Amino acid sequence: MWSCIKDFFTYETTKSVVVKSWTIGIINRVVQLLIITYFVGWVFLFEKAYQVRDTAIESSVMTKVKGFGVYNNKVMDVADYITPTQGASVFCIITKLITTENQVQGYCPEVSWSADDTVGLNISFMFNLGIPTGRCIPFNSTVKMCEIKGWCPAEIDTITTRPMMEVENFTIFIKNSIRFPTFNYTKGNFLPTITDSYIKKCNFDMVNNTYCPIFRVGDVVHYAQQNFTKLGGVIGIKIGWVCDLDKSDDQCNPSYSFTRLDAMSQKNTVSPGYNFRFAKYFKMENGTDYRTLVKAYAIRFDVLVNGNAGKFNMIPTLINMVAAFTSVGVGTVLCDIILLNFLKGAEQYKAKKFEEVSDSPLEPQKNGLYRSQLSLRQHMMRSSDSGAFSIEHYG
Ligand SMILES: *[C@@H]1O[C@H](CO)[C@@H](O)[C@H](O)[C@H]1NC(C)=O
Repeated sequence: MWSCIKDFFTYETTKSVVVKSWTIGIINRVVQLLIITYFVGWVFLFEKAYQVRDTAIESSVMTKVKGFGVYNNKVMDVADYITPTQGASVFCIITKLITTENQVQGYCPEVSWSADDTVGLNISFMFNLGIPTGRCIPFNSTVKMCEIKGWCPAEIDTITTRPMMEVENFTIFIKNSIRFPTFNYTKGNFLPTITDSYIKKCNFDMVNNTYCPIFRVGDVVHYAQQNFTKLGGVIGIKIGWVCDLDKSDDQCNPSYSFTRLDAMSQKNTVSPGYNFRFAKYFKMENGTDYRTLVKAYAIRFDVLVNGNAGKFNMIPTLINMVAAFTSVGVGTVLCDIILLNFLKGAEQYKAKKFEEVSDSPLEPQKNGLYRSQLSLRQHMMRSSDSGAFSIEHYG
């Protein structure tokens, strides 16, 4: 018990043992050099650890689409093919339409047989266009036609239509302005170098016009590695702002990238593409409502803005410098492991390195007791040296 207490109340102090050996000397310097290179090159220069970062980018996006298309012999303009119309960061360009005109409330078979009869056979039991009344009329020996209550005549959406190919040539104009609140720094994607005349005729491309804010739909689809003719889905237009505010203002520029966001629906065949329905309502002279139902197939565009900015700050600089200096000491641990285990004369080094000194300093020291493991903390914190030994081991 008493010896336990005595063991506990001891103090360990570090002692420097100078080892003059080429092997361990070179290993020590190489390890230190690697650690310093890592901190200077990677942590400070590449990761910019001397900066404070703002990742909470604030942003506003406005969009405008231009172009005319022809669909079912009708000229389609922006009001016909864009939804919603507010010019927000998420918008759809309709590429295909299935319209069902003059629908009124009433009873009707779920499939209107005026079209090709074979079309209706597959969907006559789907009951998704109105409330089934339970009355079914046999159409032939195997198929029954069921009656629904709802908007009649019911829509036939199995007809195949050709997409509006002109959409490829439509242009999307994107106005984006951002702010980094920590630094109160604002910027827009209209760079000061962009002139009025340039913006009237430019089209974004990845090589020559990387800052033009006007995008051809065909190019966007192409950059997202999609096939326009088969496309219906969600395409992301990403605007990235990575800014080093220690550099001049014209170094803080947007970079555009494009990707398909609904990658999941690309892989499975259930519900491919993107479609939705909407209706336009009218009133007859006698007060009855009627409507035109539109099932629209569209490409949806999501403009996503992300970014971060960094600026020099004293606090992260100090913290990282302290970390760097401390880490240089880690090299000692590695050298000690090699020195005490693998080098010639390891026993001799151990004897010099670990010594037990009793209470009275006048007593002669015994060298027989070695400590077998290293104390990591002891090595990393070696600051003041109480004594120095020199062991010559140069070959
Ligand atoms: C798109 O524009 C180009 C050049 O103006 C034209 O040659 C092409 O036919 C257009 N594409 C469609 C689908 O209208």
